[in-house]
Amino acid sequence: MEKRFCGQLYLALTLLLLNLGSAVAVENLHGCYGSPGLPGMPGVPGRDGRDGLKGAKGEPGIPASSTQLGPKGMKGEPGPPGPPGKPGPPGAPGAMGIPGAAGDVGPPGMPGSSKQMQQSAFSVTRRTSQYPQKNVPVVFNNVITNTNRDYDTTSGKFTCRLPGVYYFVFHSSHTANLCVILHKNQSKMASFCDHKTNSMQVSSGGTLLHLAAADEVWLGVNDYNGMVGIANSDSVFSGFLLFPD
Ligand SMILES: *[C@@H]1O[C@H](CO)[C@@H](O)[C@H](O)[C@H]1NC(C)=O
Repeated sequence: MEKRFCGQLYLALTLLLLNLGSAVAVENLHGCYGSPGLPGMPGVPGRDGRDGLKGAKGEPGIPASSTQLGPKGMKGEPGPPGPPGKPGPPGAPGAMGIPGAAGDVGPPGMPGSSKQMQQSAFSVTRRTSQYPQKNVPVVFNNVITNTNRDYDTTSGKFTCRLPGVYYFVFHSSHTANLCVILHKNQSKMASFCDHKTNSMQVSSGGTLLHLAAADEVWLGVNDYNGMVGIANSDSVFSGFLLFPD
């Protein structure tokens, strides 16, 4: 019975020694079978355990609404300048510049021929058996004389280049009634009509006209248009500068 108690005390003392090394326990080692000692002091807390396993993923949060936005933050710093933009459309043309300075005087020209410059004379014939169209210039398509080409064999018009007084005259063969009208621009200056009494006859007429540069002179016919230009029966239109202005 006592031996069993001593064994129990010894076990308790051993545990006490492991924990505290208490003085009470050491004294009682020599006197076995003494009364049990007081309970020892609590030990110091053990070290923290290792981290547990990672928890399960939580439910998605409630989306934030715009009314729940937090307070406005502070204004940020200005960003760096962007790259240059594309070129814009061209602007309106600027105002005209001031005229430049006058150029140098040119070299003297070649000696001119005042005689040739003051000339204007033509004689043209109409070579066709076709009667001309009415109310348009009668075209004399064959040139006998045409200084400076003042008479145009395509349009049938004489164009004044040198202002002055001119004489115009025509001699027209015809095989039917004929009226020849001399035009200066849109004005009828003179009219000559002849009714046919022979198989072939010639009518003529002429006048002096004062012309300005660019004035046009031509012959026309009306419904009486029997003018022809056939072998031995010419129709000739002539004009010349009598004197310049
Ligand atoms: C006659 O007509 C021409 C050509 O159309 C024109 O240049 C000229 O000024 C006119 N002359 C007159 C007096 O109207």
